[in-house]
Amino acid sequence: MPQTVKGVVAMTKGAAVTIENVVIPDPGPGEAVVTIQACGVCHTDLHYREGGINDEFPFLLGHEASGLVESVGDGVTEVAVGDFVILNWRAVCGTCRSCVKGKPQYCFSTFNAEQKMTLEDGTELSPALGIGAFVEKTLVAAGQCTKVDPEASPAAAGLLGCGVMAGIGAAINTGGVGRGDSVAVFGCGGVGDAAIAGSKLAGASTIIAVDIDDQKLEWAKGFGATHTINSGAVDPVARIRELTGGNGVDVAIDAIGLPEVYKQCFEARDLAGTVVLVGVPHPDMTIELPFIDIFGRGGSLKSSWYGDCLPARDFPMLIDLYRQGRLDLDGFVSETIALDEVEAAFHKMERGEVLRSVVVL
Ligand SMILES: NC(=O)c1ccc[n+]([C@@H]2O[C@H](COP(=O)([O-])OP(=O)(O)OC[C@H]3O[C@@H](n4cnc5c(N)ncnc54)[C@H](O)[C@@H]3O)[C@@H](O)[C@H]2O)c1
Ligand SMILES: [Zn+2]
Ligand SMILES: [Zn+2]
Repeated sequence: MPQTVKGVVAMTKGAAVTIENVVIPDPGPGEAVVTIQACGVCHTDLHYREGGINDEFPFLLGHEASGLVESVGDGVTEVAVGDFVILNWRAVCGTCRSCVKGKPQYCFSTFNAEQKMTLEDGTELSPALGIGAFVEKTLVAAGQCTKVDPEASPAAAGLLGCGVMAGIGAAINTGGVGRGDSVAVFGCGGVGDAAIAGSKLAGASTIIAVDIDDQKLEWAKGFGATHTINSGAVDPVARIRELTGGNGVDVAIDAIGLPEVYKQCFEARDLAGTVVLVGVPHPDMTIELPFIDIFGRGGSLKSSWYGDCLPARDFPMLIDLYRQGRLDLDGFVSETIALDEVEAAFHKMERGEVLRSVVVL
């Protein structure tokens, strides 16, 4: 029997989100229904609400979630009823041209549930990132459920489902940060601070946090920043050069997605260094760079979708590090909130008051 539950929906572009009745079908073949325990508010949810991702309104928002598998459809072997899982937006297909090249972290054909969740009048919902988890229960493909140690706090674990994984992976997987490297992270929200934590885990010796908000810079120190720069007050490129013997950093990470910030990353990077773009640009944005410098500075300009993670490999490993006290996932949870407080949480995010507001059910 389909179930009707409460969920947070963005009905039209830019409008405040509302709580709606959401109809969840029984899981079909290869699908699972998950009872959501926690779901973080990511800036990408706000991008969806603003129409910055696509126009397929109405959206069922929320995608950084953990919960318990309530029921599974035919043929599901990955997870069983009662498993504690983190939801992922990279269920790899195993057969696309990237998977067969042994690079499933770039899978070009990831999949979601085939059935649609709807409003009570039958209107199909577009679940954010193929998940939709600001809701009491959600329907996903079983491959979107990654089983992890149930001793982990649901609020902290869920954050690995998007922003924190994206940030850690941007540093370690995409940027290839290693022992002794210098790193600059621009934008110290949940994603940027995770890139800082990831750089620390990987053994970077200089980790420079850049933001326009002093409170964010203070928090960044707690995750491992060795230096901070308020780029509203000083030129971050000149300061990064000063802090790195005049050279620039090995890896510069844009965790905001603004052309001016990307340029700062490009210029603050050492010769043969790497720029990683993990922040999501708005579709209208363009960028102009001196072509000769793209050539002359060498190195690489990379983008990081989901931190180039493989959920089945990375989530359990990072939960282990968290349980051992080596990765402070709890530190990302600024506040826990109810479903009807998501709109307020967006405003807190815009005002820079939180790293992550986490809906706990
Ligand atoms: N690539 C991915 O897979 C992925 C995954 C999750 C989130 N994201 C994206 O990452 C970005 C960051 O997400 P978040 O949740 O951390 O957002 P957030 O709003 O919490 O953090 C953004 C930070 O950037 C700072 N900032 C804004 N403008 C700045 C400027 N001009 N210079 C320096 N700092 C500035 C803000 O003060 C804030 O601390 C978003 O674009 C989000 O959509 C990408
Ligand atoms: Zn694939
Ligand atoms: Zn996200």
